[in-house]
Amino acid sequence: MKLLLTMLPQWWARVPVSEPAPITPDTQPTVVLGIESSCDESSAAVVEVGREVRSNVVASQIALHRRFGGVVPEIASRQHVLALPTVTAAALREAAMGWREIEGIAVTYGPGLAGPLLVGINFAMGLSLARRIPLFAVNHVEAHVLSVWLETPEPPRLPMVSLVVSGGHTELILVEGVGRYRVLGATVDDAAGEAFDKVGRLLGLPYPGGPSVEKAAGKANGTVTELPRAWLPGTYDFSFSGLKTAVLRLVQTQGKVASPEGAERLSLAEEDVASIAAGFQESVADVLTAKLARAVEDQGAGSAAIVGGVANNKCLLNVARSRLDVELRWPAPGLSTDNAAMIAGAALLNPRPADYDLDAVPSLSLS
Ligand code: KG4
Ligand code: ZN
Repeated sequence: MKLLLTMLPQWWARVPVSEPAPITPDTQPTVVLGIESSCDESSAAVVEVGREVRSNVVASQIALHRRFGGVVPEIASRQHVLALPTVTAAALREAAMGWREIEGIAVTYGPGLAGPLLVGINFAMGLSLARRIPLFAVNHVEAHVLSVWLETPEPPRLPMVSLVVSGGHTELILVEGVGRYRVLGATVDDAAGEAFDKVGRLLGLPYPGGPSVEKAAGKANGTVTELPRAWLPGTYDFSFSGLKTAVLRLVQTQGKVASPEGAERLSLAEEDVASIAAGFQESVADVLTAKLARAVEDQGAGSAAIVGGVANNKCLLNVARSRLDVELRWPAPGLSTDNAAMIAGAALLNPRPADYDLDAVPSLSLS
């Protein structure tokens, strides 16, 4: 299977198998093609030195996974096999660049889902072999952290405290420099995005829950259900499972039994959904931003950042801005949720040359 996947891009690129790309420890590309497939987004992008995004093509699989209420790894892997050649061709076309101009191929090797990661790695290795372009390995969480260096004239002021909030991660990271990170705290159970997704499901909202919960909360008209906060005092850690259970209890007490096609389920009035969604969103934003602000103060940081899919949440950004005395950064449009531009950008900022024995590391950590 692995061999077959490695051969696919060579067939697609219509070139014979050639000598491995010349990789040296000081290989420093200036134009990089990024490949991202760690979860349910198949993406390819071209980024140029100066961190200018020339193209960033994302094929989302949301519609495929929606009826399961979450990502099914096997379906995601198969879809990446189908989508990666198409998004790669589109990324080159949109960047108006040919293979000759690409100096590096960057790929996510972890953390993420094993199958989807392997598809991306083998695809990128095949391209690297076929085109004799050096391969670079990228840590997905580092790419989220470095996403605030893209599409902006000034790099952020360091040290910076970065709050990584996505479907798979919730971490508070002290960034002392590119490649110099210290994880200050992390979730002890669900990631923030995962909590949004699960609460969205409990409230009967469409997957993914993050945007749906935010939209529902926007209809609350000031009626906000008060929900608990897990402070985990004395730590920079987070917990969202108690909050999720509190929402479940509310749905069980306030929900009325609806029986579509004989299957029993609880259904809430629209105003109750809005009020609970607003209360949930406020609770998450309150805890995340309180810890972010405290970390900034404790560490004497010069700036703060919120990155990852949940950085799209306006309530979170607004509460953070109101609490911080330092500059707050968040990714440029299209760079919060999973995308390959941040993967290529990470390889430009912190290139880590990889060999053809590169393997997926599903639980890769930052340090
Ligand atoms: O960064 P990302 O694309 O994937 C991972 O690396 O995990 O983040 C996806 C997560 C999902 O859980 C989604 O519900 C959440 O980001 N998300 C949001 C919003 N947009 C996406 N959460 C809250 N509010 C949003 N507007
Ligand atoms: Zn991500």
